[in-house]
Amino acid sequence: SEQGCLSIIVLGASGDLAKKKTFPALYHLFDQGFLQSGEVHIFGYARSNLSDDGLRERIRGYLKGAPEDLSEFLQLIKYVSGSYDNGEGFEKLNKEISKYEESNQSGSYRRLFYLALPPSVYPSVCRMIRTYCMNPSSHPGWTRVIVEKPFGKDLDSAEELSAQLGELFEEHQLYRIDHYLGKELVQNLLVLRFANRLFLPLWNRDNIDNIQIVFREDFGTEGRGGYFDQYGIIRDIIQNHLLQVFCLVAMEKPVSLKPEHIRDEKVKVLQSVNPIKCEEVVLGQYDGYKDDPTVPDDSNTPTFASVVLRVHNERWEGVPFILKAGKALNSRKAEVRVQFKDVPGDIFKCKKQGRNEFVIRLQPSEAMYMKLTVKKPGLEMATEQSELDLSYGMRYQNVKIPEAYERLILDTIRGDQQHFVRRDELKAAWQIFTPLLHDIDAGKMKAVPYQPGSRGPKEADELSARVGYVQTHGYIWIPPTLA
Ligand code: BG6
Repeated sequence: SEQGCLSIIVLGASGDLAKKKTFPALYHLFDQGFLQSGEVHIFGYARSNLSDDGLRERIRGYLKGAPEDLSEFLQLIKYVSGSYDNGEGFEKLNKEISKYEESNQSGSYRRLFYLALPPSVYPSVCRMIRTYCMNPSSHPGWTRVIVEKPFGKDLDSAEELSAQLGELFEEHQLYRIDHYLGKELVQNLLVLRFANRLFLPLWNRDNIDNIQIVFREDFGTEGRGGYFDQYGIIRDIIQNHLLQVFCLVAMEKPVSLKPEHIRDEKVKVLQSVNPIKCEEVVLGQYDGYKDDPTVPDDSNTPTFASVVLRVHNERWEGVPFILKAGKALNSRKAEVRVQFKDVPGDIFKCKKQGRNEFVIRLQPSEAMYMKLTVKKPGLEMATEQSELDLSYGMRYQNVKIPEAYERLILDTIRGDQQHFVRRDELKAAWQIFTPLLHDIDAGKMKAVPYQPGSRGPKEADELSARVGYVQTHGYIWIPPTLA
């Protein structure tokens, strides 16, 4: 039953992720009526010695809303302090949760644990939850656990972590978050591909020349160099966020929208990816990255990477998927760019025609646009590049696009795992990148320097061109804005 009391326990409550993402997402859900006072209690758990009000004040500054709404929300939060590896704190936590459940006897007891913690403590925290904090079996309800990447550093460590968690929880209780799966335009990919006759016959090697999945950020690793240096851009962005987008772009049509059907298709396409060739990889590191005192002076950690994936199946043989991500670049955006092949037998020879492209702008300025060649309006018979443009800000003017985390947390409450990463999917993802990551870690592949605020290493543009991408010069899409 989905009625009754819901306890949301945020572990690592005073950390960055909790303050910046988890609590704001919970507040948005509360604000929209998804978390009712009386039905929901939120518990913050961490090591620091804090009062309830102490935690509330730490969080308040990260929430945007009317002061009275904020206060009402913050009143739902209680703080419990304790360590992550001994029973005492978790017993206390369980007592607090039970106290509230018993005061609210009707319906089920639902317990949602959000691990806003470094993965090194996942196994011990999960063991503590399993031992001390499960929903009472005498009563209907459930216990679910949300975990965040990084899930390991390579195939073996990820599998070890999966095995440890798998001993404690069933797969249906574990929610591995990849917040890109909560983004509106990422969720739209499935609809776009399989609900539009227009795309069905075109979405293959006969028509598509190459596909780019690009993530760019215009800031560096400020303040998180210590974490980042252990992982690098491939583990931070490509192996998870971009690969999830890749799955949705490349996979076959699922049997139905059931989460298992969708995830089955993702696993299949991941398993069809060929081993990455080192000549189809460019790594970069921006100048100044090593100035961070937490980054070693001889770090070879890439802050930029462009990696070509090749899918060995009937649909995609020969089509390069260029996955590119970088920090400290000249702009912030994420997009999927599908470039079609040249028009055969071109009769407009006066000027080289640009290729058709279909671009899905994930952020910012969510949009989809299709680059077309049109007759240049006027008396002359000239052609130019233009576009069909579906910009969300224009088309859906009064719609607020939900934050990724808010949507995903709601899914966990509803028990919908569609937008979460399954264990075998995670394994297949690590299988693709592990040999490359080991080569980088062993110093066999070097990151080339690039200027912060630039497009990244020029070698990456050369790689894209070499595998077939043709840049249209002189065409820039400008997100339309309301007058
Ligand atoms: C996180 C990465 O997963 O995603 C960060 O660890 C990155 O390095 C962030 O900045 C980007 O998320 P978004 O939603 O801002 O694109």
